[in-house]
Amino acid sequence: MTIEPKDSKVVLEAVQSAVKRYGASQDELIPILNDVNREVGYLPGEALDELSRLLKVPKSQLFSVASFYRMLSTKPRGKHVLQFCESAPCHVAGGREVWLAVKEALNIEENETTPDGKWTLITTSCLGVCGVGPVMMIDDDVIGNVDPKQVPAILAKYQ
Ligand code: FES
Repeated sequence: MTIEPKDSKVVLEAVQSAVKRYGASQDELIPILNDVNREVGYLPGEALDELSRLLKVPKSQLFSVASFYRMLSTKPRGKHVLQFCESAPCHVAGGREVWLAVKEALNIEENETTPDGKWTLITTSCLGVCGVGPVMMIDDDVIGNVDPKQVPAILAKYQ
């Protein structure tokens, strides 16, 4: 299975509803981009074209913002996105072993997507719950106190 780009109708509807939700203001750029990214799975070129038109922001600027934030992507991502916290407190709490277990279980490296389109693996800075490190986030679920041995069972919960 390959990751298919979303059709234009889905993309344009996602952009228009996000702009309607937050208003056509450049100040709302991040939440708008975030919503479209969540809805479509990533930010295709035509989403940035439409946002550029509606918000009157150059597409190059939108692309820079979309490339800067790791939660956003200009390339298709897998069905599930696993964000692994790479900040120091999680690292000290055993993050490296969990990171290796995640990479082994998914059989991919950072910023890659599994060939079946199910998983994309990225790293993130502190998720704000350092007290329960090591921490990772799968889609909207924050998972703390992860033990390397638990990784396959955690991943298996996501179909
Ligand atoms: S360092 Fe990982 S959640 Fe804060």
